[in-house]
Amino acid sequence: MPETSPKGLTRLAFGGDYNPEQWPESVWQEDVRLMREAGVTMVSAGIFSWALLEPSPGVYDFGWLDRLLDLLHENGIRVDLGTPTVVPPVWFYRAHPDALPVTAEGMRHEFGSRGAICHSNADYRAAAANITTKLAERYGAHPALAMWHVHNEYGVPVSACYCDSCAAHFRRWLASTYGTVDAVNEAWGTAFWGQRYGGFEDINPPRLSPTVGNPAQALDYKRFADATMRENFVMERDILHRLAPGIPVTTNFMTALSQCDSVDYWAWGREVDIVTNDHYLITDGRRTHVNLAMAADLTRSVAGGAPWILLEHSTSGVNWQPRNPAKAPGQMARNSLAHVARGSEGAMFFQWRQSRRGAEKFHSSMLPHGGTHTRVWREVVELGASLDSLSTIRGTRTEADVAVLWDWHSWWAQSLDWRPSEDHDARERADAFYETLYDRHLTVDFAHPEADLSRYPLVVVPALYLMTEAAGTNVREYVENGGTLVVSYFSGIVDEHDAVHEGAYPGPLRDVLGLTVEEFSPLLKDQSVRLTGADGSELSGDVWTEFVVPRGAETVWTYADGLTAGHPAVTRHRFGQGSAWYVSTRLGAEGLDALLGWATDDAGITPRADLPRDVEVVRRTGESGTYLFAINHTGSDAKVPLEASGTELLTGERAAGRLEIPAGAVRVVRLDG
Ligand code: GAL
Repeated sequence: MPETSPKGLTRLAFGGDYNPEQWPESVWQEDVRLMREAGVTMVSAGIFSWALLEPSPGVYDFGWLDRLLDLLHENGIRVDLGTPTVVPPVWFYRAHPDALPVTAEGMRHEFGSRGAICHSNADYRAAAANITTKLAERYGAHPALAMWHVHNEYGVPVSACYCDSCAAHFRRWLASTYGTVDAVNEAWGTAFWGQRYGGFEDINPPRLSPTVGNPAQALDYKRFADATMRENFVMERDILHRLAPGIPVTTNFMTALSQCDSVDYWAWGREVDIVTNDHYLITDGRRTHVNLAMAADLTRSVAGGAPWILLEHSTSGVNWQPRNPAKAPGQMARNSLAHVARGSEGAMFFQWRQSRRGAEKFHSSMLPHGGTHTRVWREVVELGASLDSLSTIRGTRTEADVAVLWDWHSWWAQSLDWRPSEDHDARERADAFYETLYDRHLTVDFAHPEADLSRYPLVVVPALYLMTEAAGTNVREYVENGGTLVVSYFSGIVDEHDAVHEGAYPGPLRDVLGLTVEEFSPLLKDQSVRLTGADGSELSGDVWTEFVVPRGAETVWTYADGLTAGHPAVTRHRFGQGSAWYVSTRLGAEGLDALLGWATDDAGITPRADLPRDVEVVRRTGESGTYLFAINHTGSDAKVPLEASGTELLTGERAAGRLEIPAGAVRVVRLDG
């Protein structure tokens, strides 16, 4: 069994991407001195260093990395060592220009950025295997080595390549997935528009086409591209396991960012020894701490509930959004500790020392251009001390209250062309339901639609367009056995090949929801509909409406106007021992809160009315005890009731009764007992 935590790391991970090759070696001494001052425990190194390590084919220069690892080891800093396979050197591309990826439009990318890789390319695979082998042979037993960091963020910036090697590889993938070309014809529904294939050799990637291509082909191409990247990860991982036994292998995920929606992290989570994640705040006016919590919950879920590590986030602003605000004082600590509350075994950053040159010089770092006489540096040093006082938390697990179903394949299918409305955005619904649960102070686990749901009193399905029969059976049995289910519209519509389930919508959910949907009727931009409740109260919906016909479900809210007037908008169905709610329009925050209020009542979940809005309360439990995290995202002091007395670990003070959390502060209480 490979190790599942960084070797030799006895405290929480604190540090960042360290790119010392950008600086003269004289600067390294200052780096490690300041790392010690800040309490850095681990750095990620060598991620982009292939061109330095192998300056020409078969000629290696490991001297600088030897000196670096020795220096870090002498200073007690553990190393997460990169395999630099995300940027092959320019000599490699001169010899193998066809390793540069090609877009669906047939344009080949050029060298000069990063991540320009065709993952099907045999020369790339051979070269990546070679440099990985060389690194594993040289550093596998180095005392500084804590874990391997393979590649960087698979899936970005290029999510798929459409070149001829990929076409050949896609045909092989189809042959092994389907066996015969007739099975592909059947699965893709090629009888439509005369797309029937006579042999595998006729099939190409979904390249530029006059109008919409075959959606099942496009969906399979996403699966193929994801599987192809994973083949390369597994290839490197297996070399590292063989040559450096006992050192865990990771690759940094970007679980919840829609920029990286091309990777099925359920599948990747099973391949890594430790799940690690990169998370950056999307500063588009929404509440960034909610997006952060969601990313952390999703990462923990991908890790199967086990501890994971936040491998990158930012000390302050990033540089790649249209507008990149700095973080407010205290926000970096709140962000870091919110990840820890939700299962991260530390908080690491991109990057240690802010670059002077290159594309990311305006991205914040732990050691800014302004040096140590800066707010960011002072906050970094404080955070190092805070994390140090939380060392005993390692190995404990975050407790979740409810589950939200999540599936990248459904998301891919939902995002294909020619759906009933371009305004329906599955990701937006997932975010909106998550935000409502967050505001109800419920901690969320994400679950694959076919996963065991029996431990959750409430399961929410925000928008799950693609559902297999197995997923349908899973949620049906969950409700039959006493669970409470909430399903939002346009769920359970197609199977794994994007083929509409037979019978009326919503296929495998009809009986559990006790209804059929006769027709979708999306609304025009800026249109909305009124809904009335049995008690006369009013709500509104937009984007989407449906002609719902109850077949056992009771109507809770009815459309009061629009084409669907008189039809149910929200229903509830008692099924077996449980109940299943359905909502057929896009509810705003008020409507979602009402809906989840009823559903949590059904589920027997006690409302947390005693907790103020935007004060995040999360628990981690394990052998070393129960830790209550309280994070005050507001500008006023707040109080949170404590179920037991305990010790507040950041201040060392005793806490009992009500815990005081100053504006913008974090408190972590280790409960007695
Ligand atoms: C990450 C990437 C880092 C750095 C960072 C900037 O996605 O892994 O290398 O570019 O973004 O935010």
